[in-house]
Amino acid sequence: MTNWIEDEHQYVFQNYGRQPIVLERGEGTRVWDVDGKEYLDFVGGLAVNVLGHAHPVVAKAVADQAATLIHTSNLYYTKPMIELAKILVENSCMDRAFFCNSGAEAIEAAIKLARRWGHDTRNGAYEIIATLDGFHGRTTGALAATGTLRYREPFAPLAPGFSHVPWNDLDAIKAATTPLTVAVLLEPIQGEGGVNMPAPGYLQGIREWCDANNLLLIFDEIQTGNGRTGTLFAYEQEGVEPDILCLAKGLAGGVPIGAMLAKDELAKHLVPGDHGTTFGANPLATAAGVATMNFIIDNELPAQAARASERIVARLRSMEDRLPAVTEVRGRGLLLAVGLDRDCSADVVAAARERGLLANNVRPNAVRLMPPLIVTDDEIDKACDILEAAILAVTGAPK
Ligand SMILES: Cc1ncc(COP(=O)(O)O)c(C=O)c1O
Repeated sequence: MTNWIEDEHQYVFQNYGRQPIVLERGEGTRVWDVDGKEYLDFVGGLAVNVLGHAHPVVAKAVADQAATLIHTSNLYYTKPMIELAKILVENSCMDRAFFCNSGAEAIEAAIKLARRWGHDTRNGAYEIIATLDGFHGRTTGALAATGTLRYREPFAPLAPGFSHVPWNDLDAIKAATTPLTVAVLLEPIQGEGGVNMPAPGYLQGIREWCDANNLLLIFDEIQTGNGRTGTLFAYEQEGVEPDILCLAKGLAGGVPIGAMLAKDELAKHLVPGDHGTTFGANPLATAAGVATMNFIIDNELPAQAARASERIVARLRSMEDRLPAVTEVRGRGLLLAVGLDRDCSADVVAAARERGLLANNVRPNAVRLMPPLIVTDDEIDKACDILEAAILAVTGAPK
């Protein structure tokens, strides 16, 4: 019998800290490993599987498109990419979409568009202000924007022109702004940083500062987008419109894709030859995107995510009363984290996994939950029961 984990250790780069299970199939919010053990999947492919696993609408779109036209290159027009762009534009504050293959690539595109605009209209301004603990991806440009030293430092020197300021500190953005600053780049809710919420007025304050100083505001909604936080995009709940919006993760229901959206005035600065990628706007990925986005919109899944969130948050908050180790429940919609009073999240995640729940130790002292938008009440109740038992097993007696 194949020992998959041993083979992985032998043949695959060891750059991931994987959980010791081999997943074989999924359906909705559930996945099964090669031994047939069932798990409730509250990681959701790291906020990717918005419609859960093996959703028939996504599966059919992929199968139909695979049997029709998988790839053409961007030398030609294809229907799914135009359809997906239209859906995104009609349902956001943006005018145009550029497609790529991942979140990091969407950020790279945003950096280039901002710098192209700075080159054309702002005497070559190129500096981008980002936030500490912000996460924007692992390619060298996106990494330069990422605000976690341990991810960046071994790969120095990274692209110049990025500065990092503390999260929720508008004055720090003001102080970091120079005549060469072209943009402010941040997530409306920091995801990988630990599900950190923006303070009331923070994002509005940044928008006003950008307007007053002719700076672009770039929102990385790679994790918060596609209905996860209770609206199609998180910016809608903040009353703030960015100039550039980066998407990826859930956009095609699990098929790799990324997108940069921008207002027309800005988008026109990218001209033929400025940017591109072979697989970008690939018919397979964009057909999956059309099916996923139409399903999210037609079935009002953002509102469903908000309702599901209320149930989870109520359950998690009730744990705060019973379990001394639970210090905080934070997040919005189905991007949530349970804060713990000690660095035990890896043990809690392991204990939850053994009990049949997949959760994510986003920080040493925080467990993150990102179930699909189609998660049911029963699944929420079961997952919360398991999480409570896991926290109890790791941290000891209730209050
Ligand atoms: C907010 C945010 N931006 C960018 C990225 C990078 O996306 P990808 O891993 O698809 O390159 C991530 C991935 O976790 C993310 O959460």
